[in-house]
Amino acid sequence: MSISIKSINKTFGNYAALENISLEVPNGSLTALLGPSGSGKTTLLRIVAGLEFSDPGEGRILFHGEDVSETPAGKRGVGFVFQHYALFRHMTIAENIAFGLSVLPRSLRPAKAEIHARISELLKLVKLEGLDKRRPHELSGGQRQRVALARALAIQPKVLLLDEPFGALDAQVRKSLRRWLRVFHDEIGLTTLFVTHDQEEALELADQVVVMRNARIEQVGKPQEIYDHPRSPFVYEFLGNVNKLSASNGSHRYIRPHEIEIAFAAEYNPETDRLAKIDHLFSAGPVATLSVRLDDGQFLEVEISRKQLDELALDPGDEVSIRIMDSSKSGV
Ligand SMILES: Nc1ncnc2c1ncn2[C@@H]1O[C@H](COP(=O)(O)OP(=O)(O)O)[C@@H](O)[C@H]1O
Ligand SMILES: [Mg+2]
Repeated sequence: MSISIKSINKTFGNYAALENISLEVPNGSLTALLGPSGSGKTTLLRIVAGLEFSDPGEGRILFHGEDVSETPAGKRGVGFVFQHYALFRHMTIAENIAFGLSVLPRSLRPAKAEIHARISELLKLVKLEGLDKRRPHELSGGQRQRVALARALAIQPKVLLLDEPFGALDAQVRKSLRRWLRVFHDEIGLTTLFVTHDQEEALELADQVVVMRNARIEQVGKPQEIYDHPRSPFVYEFLGNVNKLSASNGSHRYIRPHEIEIAFAAEYNPETDRLAKIDHLFSAGPVATLSVRLDDGQFLEVEISRKQLDELALDPGDEVSIRIMDSSKSGV
């Protein structure tokens, strides 16, 4: 089911939380809303869910072409997962997952046996078989978020809305859950809108990334597209480490740390290279980060492989030759 967001404005008092937001979320896609805290991501997600309503006017939300702007949340068929595990502590995992079904009016509620079968199926889907009788405190943070996901899916939603679902987990669990979610999404193919402020998470997970800033959409595109062709300095900087290099005419150039080559000073070519001095080295892991000071005093961060660092055998204070690659991508 596709989601069409059309001309949404939302003000709280006289504060504009969303300004003229229009966006297409293709059927079956995993779309990430990416932006700094306060940019309006949660507000937009809540409006799609029907937990919040846009300002009166032209603003519209369509599911598969059907206008649901006036439809209450409970009737939109959305599954919602929040950052903080909103599991019921006194209920077992099975009861938590079944919650959305057990509160349906009797006429819509599946029979007990069917609820039971659906819980087993969902536990299998989120890889938590056998944990149905436990309570939330007996699970890890990552497991609890998968229960929250199973609970959101129990009502067989038409779209899945995830608001920083891994935000409260530690980095390693986050990373593995992120990969798990990608595989899971490919398996079930449910249109998913995913909120995050973590660019790495968005770039790795999503089919489509929507960069938000100050109540507006700054850029929409495939991860590779927006990474390689950021439309503004904000997107460039937000999407990852970047060097901002000032030219003598006052203009700026953006260069990613891996777009810089480094060689011995003896190989310096005045046509293409700059001279620099190693200021600092950081090399725990397969990628080494070097901070170098250019001949004009500006600092650059450079990423090279650990292997290359070992070959060059550099130390702080060494003079090196720097070459900036592929300037076509840096034309912001
Ligand atoms: N119910 C509310 N009342 C007043 N201001 C709100 C409310 N909800 C959100 N805001 C404001 O709207 C802006 C966007 O919030 P939010 O959508 O939560 O951003 P994000 O999820 O990107 O961090 C913030 O400045 C926030 O303080
Ligand atoms: Mg938020």
